Amino acid sequence: MRSIKHDILIIGGGGAGLRAAIAVSQENPDLDVAVVSKVYPMRSHTVAAEGGMAAVIKPNDSFEDHIYDTVSGSDWLADQDAVEFFVRTAPSELIQLEHWGCPWSRESDGSVAVRPFGGMQIERTWFAADKTGFHVLHSLFQTTLKYRSLQRYDEWMALRLLTHDGRCQGVAAMELRTGRIVPILAKAVIMCTGGGGRVFPFTTNAAIKTGDGMALAYRAGVALKDMEFVQYHPTGLPGTGILITEAARGEGGILVNNKGHRYLSDYDLGKPLPIDHHDHPKNRTMELGPRDRLSQAFIHEQTKGNVFEGPHGTYVHLDVRHLGESYIEKKIPFVRELSNNYGGVDPVHEPIPVRPVVHYMMGGIDTDIEAATTLPGLYAAGECACVSINGANRLGSNSLTELLVFGAQAGRNAAIFAQQHGISGENDLLSQTQDEINRISELLGNRAGDEKIADLRNIMTSALEEGAGIYRNAEGMQKACTTITELRKRSKNLKLDDTSLSYNTELTSAIELDFMLDIAETVTFSALRRKESRGSHQRTDFPERDDDEFLKHSLAYNTDDAPRIEHKDVVITNLPPAKRIYGGGK
Ligand code: FUM
Repeated sequence: MRSIKHDILIIGGGGAGLRAAIAVSQENPDLDVAVVSKVYPMRSHTVAAEGGMAAVIKPNDSFEDHIYDTVSGSDWLADQDAVEFFVRTAPSELIQLEHWGCPWSRESDGSVAVRPFGGMQIERTWFAADKTGFHVLHSLFQTTLKYRSLQRYDEWMALRLLTHDGRCQGVAAMELRTGRIVPILAKAVIMCTGGGGRVFPFTTNAAIKTGDGMALAYRAGVALKDMEFVQYHPTGLPGTGILITEAARGEGGILVNNKGHRYLSDYDLGKPLPIDHHDHPKNRTMELGPRDRLSQAFIHEQTKGNVFEGPHGTYVHLDVRHLGESYIEKKIPFVRELSNNYGGVDPVHEPIPVRPVVHYMMGGIDTDIEAATTLPGLYAAGECACVSINGANRLGSNSLTELLVFGAQAGRNAAIFAQQHGISGENDLLSQTQDEINRISELLGNRAGDEKIADLRNIMTSALEEGAGIYRNAEGMQKACTTITELRKRSKNLKLDDTSLSYNTELTSAIELDFMLDIAETVTFSALRRKESRGSHQRTDFPERDDDEFLKHSLAYNTDDAPRIEHKDVVITNLPPAKRIYGGGK
């Protein structure tokens, strides 16, 4: 078996992966870098991000305020040293991105424009209309093209991390075009594969977001941290789950129930501001509350019978008509395009039907502030990682910034590590790859199996929605744990109809199902153990936050049986735990 060798291997070609690749080359242009990506990088999910990126830039803003908003938004579960590093590094990363070509929207005086976003006391979200992710990813992608030391493996799927001597030294990866499985060895590996929202049935996440990198690290012995915290975004289009950006509310859109009532005024999220025209002060209350609270409010409205019923379930209205056509076209053109094409409504003339939709995983691969994991040589950044700045609830527009700040951090630190270590134990690494080749051939050749991927995946996604949705309780979560454990056994008995090697999407779906079951078990088992309500983890049987017992991160470790759940302390520096208060503004 022939191996491929590089100094640094990055798995994932989205925002975090590309930022990490650039950082490696900036640190040492002589290091050669491989980027392995399941899809062509410009198809990574970063491209779908809409509303913007948070960073302090205006004179009326401060690092202290951004830190406070992020920590309070996290329901005090974020590590405050990481938040502080993130907030202080954010502006230079966003300015750097402009130098690489990102066309930030501007104010009339030419300065960078910022808009309000959920849970932020002040406007600090930079944006490129409402196609921010598209422009961010383009800027990063075109910047990577100038580095000759970077080699891309587009449409290659990572199957297993290769370890020797207690270090991560590569990956067994499958070229999707041919089906061949090859060991790609490296002195350091950076995981940037995004989240795993596809374990739920209704999500904004692209089909590729199946938690691959999280599962690979988990199988290699690294803990997955805070996996019980799953973010529902309050405004997805019913049916498809396509995101209607928070920018629509930041620019002044309002949420209205089936009684025509702006119902968030009933939920301790501040007083309404005037809504008749966009020249009024921008929303900072109610609709600009944090996502966990808004999604919970939807469930209460549903219980009260205050929601609309449609062919794709219940919904409320997001109304932006008062902003006027020219303002909508200027600031949120994509909202109009998506609503027209996928919701059948023109928001200039009609309200948009919306409902909460799974959007983001606060949890992920346990990393420290250097983006290092507990497995030497393995780094992680972006949604697949949990550093943690998001705690129990992420604020909108912090995640694109996070993938730049910690993508760069991962790249720099992996470069330093790679300069101090070589590749060792090559025979062992090749033999681990051979095991992987054997495993995949058995999966393809299992003629005796009788389980179908789609059946198991549907049972898994329903179990997650029912047991680990916006509101949870012990009985529902226990049931979800049992279902996932059963699915694990059944998944050993899959039968694939397609045994070909080239672009075998049935095979890749089977591999992804296996990854998703890992993610699903860490979500449900971690959730069951957290006997309190905090941020996105709301338990009807334990409705209060319990700092005495649970001001702690959950750590889920892989075992041959159910995951082992441990806990570790949250880093508190300057902000002692307090009640979250919204609606005051600055
Ligand atoms: O609504 C949005 O544009 C989402 C932004 C985010 O998740 O950061």
